[in-house]
Amino acid sequence: SLTPTPADKFTFGLWTIGWNAQDPFGSATRGPLDAVTAIHTLSELGAYGMTFHDDDLFPFASTDAERRAAIDALKKACEETGMTIPMITTNTFSHPVFKDGGVTSNARDVRRFTIRKILRNIDLAAELGAKTFVMWGGREGAEYDFSKDIRVALERYREAANIFGQYVIDQGYDIKFAIEPKPNEPRGDILLPTVGHAMAFINTLDHPELVGLNPEVGHEQMAGLNFTAGIAQALDHGKLFHIDLNGQRGIKYDQDLVFGHGDLFNAFSLVDLLENGGPNGGAAYTGPRHFDYKPSRTEDIDGVWESAKANMRMYLLLKERAAAFRADPEVQEAIAATRQLELAQTTLNEGETVADLLADTSAYEQFDADAYFDGKGFGFVRLQQLAAEHLMGAR
Ligand code: GCO
Ligand code: MN
Ligand code: MN
Ligand code: MN
Repeated sequence: SLTPTPADKFTFGLWTIGWNAQDPFGSATRGPLDAVTAIHTLSELGAYGMTFHDDDLFPFASTDAERRAAIDALKKACEETGMTIPMITTNTFSHPVFKDGGVTSNARDVRRFTIRKILRNIDLAAELGAKTFVMWGGREGAEYDFSKDIRVALERYREAANIFGQYVIDQGYDIKFAIEPKPNEPRGDILLPTVGHAMAFINTLDHPELVGLNPEVGHEQMAGLNFTAGIAQALDHGKLFHIDLNGQRGIKYDQDLVFGHGDLFNAFSLVDLLENGGPNGGAAYTGPRHFDYKPSRTEDIDGVWESAKANMRMYLLLKERAAAFRADPEVQEAIAATRQLELAQTTLNEGETVADLLADTSAYEQFDADAYFDGKGFGFVRLQQLAAEHLMGAR
């Protein structure tokens, strides 16, 4: 069905629908949106949950009493609606104190402050039952190559991540971390710029099992990378802990368009992978479908909710189209013709050793590379056209 329900697990950041549309060139075009209204409206639209940064819910300089009042109001709204808070995250980028980063700032006092801010927010995640704690290090980076020794900055990043991991173990919290890579913006270059960089970093941590990824569509595409392929590799590593869905058109600033309003083809293959790419054709990812987009500055509050609905509808449309694509016998025949089923076979036979391969003259000595294909192709374009026709509703 194209009507969103909580079973679809659609979630939105409070900072997305709540963005007042201030950008580097102009002031806000919309007023503030409070968390309680956001919860109620998202619930009416069929969402499953909402996420937020600490500073989205209670401003940076809030007193303990103000902070508590905001948290309690949110909890009440969740109880009234059945909405959940499956993920929370920490703002370590807005306040000027973070201008050279948080956990990797050259200023040690800033690093100590940042770790305290994050630990406090981990306690809040536990209180709200959020199982995923996202770490987007937007200010962890530099504009200039001589600003800091990147290897030393990565040591500090690792030190911080190890502290957080040990903290959830010591507190007995059921929380996992999800690092969100981004290549640039707001820093000229950000540490852990892509899915691949972040996965390599995670393997150097004391408790790599506690840390995975929160890849964002636009962030990989800003680096010119194929998002679906990156997600496939994250799944291969068991590291797809969360996902930020949005739209991006090519290598430029972070556009944060509605999901599918950027590279629609890649969004199609992504939804197909998430929904049908698991073992035996089931879901490859079962966590929240989290939208991290920005309702464009041209939109009023009605436009904000239209854009929120558009994200969910795009996902459901792509899911429907992906199911039709898979069910089409001509598609199945075209897939078989590409020899993809052969790719699933191991390259050596069961029990075969390298010595056996070396002894197999048909594999090399008698293998006629020039004659092998005999001019025959793989038929990938035919399959891609069938995908395009399903995507366009032409089949
Ligand atoms: C961005 C990022 C952020 C993060 C958020 C969660 O480009 O601004 O995508 O929106 O996802 O801070 O930590
Ligand atoms: Mn982003
Ligand atoms: Mn963004
Ligand atoms: Mn994001």
